[in-house]
Amino acid sequence: MADDASSFTFLSSLLIPLLVLLLASLSRRWLKSARKNAPPSPPSFPIIGHLHLIAKPPLHRALAAIAAARGHVVLLRLGSRPVLLVSSAPAAEECFTVHDLAFANRPRLLAAQILGYGCTTIAWSPYGPHWRNLRRISAVHLLSTGALRSSSDSRTGAVRSLAKALFLEGGDSGAGRPTAGGDEVELLQSGVRRDDGGGGNGHRWGVRGREAAIPGGSGGDVCGTIGCWNRHVGRHHGMGHVPPAHPPRSLARGEAELDAKIGQGRMAEEEDIPNLPYLNCIINETLRLYPAGPLLVPHESSQDCTVGGYDVPRGTMLLVNAWAIHRDPNSWDEPEEFKPERFQCEGGQEEAGLRMLPFGSGRRKCPGEGLAMRVIGLALATLIHCFEWEKLPGEEVDMTEGRGLTMPKARPLEAMCTPRHTMLHALSQL
Ligand code: HEM
Repeated sequence: MADDASSFTFLSSLLIPLLVLLLASLSRRWLKSARKNAPPSPPSFPIIGHLHLIAKPPLHRALAAIAAARGHVVLLRLGSRPVLLVSSAPAAEECFTVHDLAFANRPRLLAAQILGYGCTTIAWSPYGPHWRNLRRISAVHLLSTGALRSSSDSRTGAVRSLAKALFLEGGDSGAGRPTAGGDEVELLQSGVRRDDGGGGNGHRWGVRGREAAIPGGSGGDVCGTIGCWNRHVGRHHGMGHVPPAHPPRSLARGEAELDAKIGQGRMAEEEDIPNLPYLNCIINETLRLYPAGPLLVPHESSQDCTVGGYDVPRGTMLLVNAWAIHRDPNSWDEPEEFKPERFQCEGGQEEAGLRMLPFGSGRRKCPGEGLAMRVIGLALATLIHCFEWEKLPGEEVDMTEGRGLTMPKARPLEAMCTPRHTMLHALSQL
């Protein structure tokens, strides 16, 4: 009995101080977080946090719904990871200007460890000397204006091969089967097929694009651009099907600009792209509605900071919903409409500020923007300049989003093209 009492006293002398320490530490934490002005946060579950709110893809739409209900700066907990969700241009601007350094880090995600060689690649490496080195090498040796100029022949060659394949080769293996190989496929991630229905001068082809507008692969960029073009402009004009003789307004304006600036006897060159303002407006408008990285790439705060007046602790992952910002009615007139002209008044991406951030912003901004705009510009200019485009008879272009983080199209784009008679000579020289 005496033994029992002494062991109880011994145990309680150990447990009570431990309990007091635990309570003190918890209350200190609670007091600290209560003192902080944390961003609004929806109700969450233990362990999973807010994961249930993003279970239904696509992720950018699920996150936009959370922002619509809770505000443009929201704190989420995805499992154990705190995530700051930013969905307005002013808040994004704060993150990428005032707090650019604080948010220059990348989170160590499992996917980044596996796909990014243990987070050593430029896109996934933490902010520091290694990243700075990679960034300097790519900026100076690979993606500078000089480096891009000296590599332009290979891109021009690839785009010309595509035009040639569309003009000459595509029909060999019959309808519905992708026939182009090599460079053309790599360039446009597409297949070329013959329309057995024929028509026009007998050269009618379809391009099967795999991806949505301006995703990672440049092929989808072009196909998607043409796709969303037709769809939007067609809808404005109440046209279910756009006949080749009456192309949509934007397409006609693009063609007219190319004819006026390049003429009808030669193919487009990369150097022509800056002199084609309307073509650039079309590309910008496509990137606005269909950004290839709708959530950019996640950032992580390396120090405490405040965003939108809320306290954000270090170690918080930052997700910027560019897709939602690009469609925010506070920033854009008629945000759901495809209106390339809006960039003519605003002078392009730069003047649109951080309400337009398809390539991100700040020190982790995409270093490949110049290359991407050259490739998309040249490929799109060539396709419009050399061919008439139309939708498949009786079919609407379906822009439904598929699964994935780069806005792939759920259904591949199929469109028909006919060589323009004014370009027959130039095409036959390829
Ligand atoms: C339409 C085409 C493209 C789009 C829309 C695009 C978009 C983006 C976006 C949104 C980011 C993340 C920015 C951020 O973290 O805030 C990014 C990062 C990056 N992009 Fe692109 N990109 C494109 C093409 C390219 C090309 C052609 C290259 C290179 C050849 C490239 C190389 C990179 C790299 C290396 C990063 C990581 C930068 C870093 O973490 O420091 N991108 N891109």
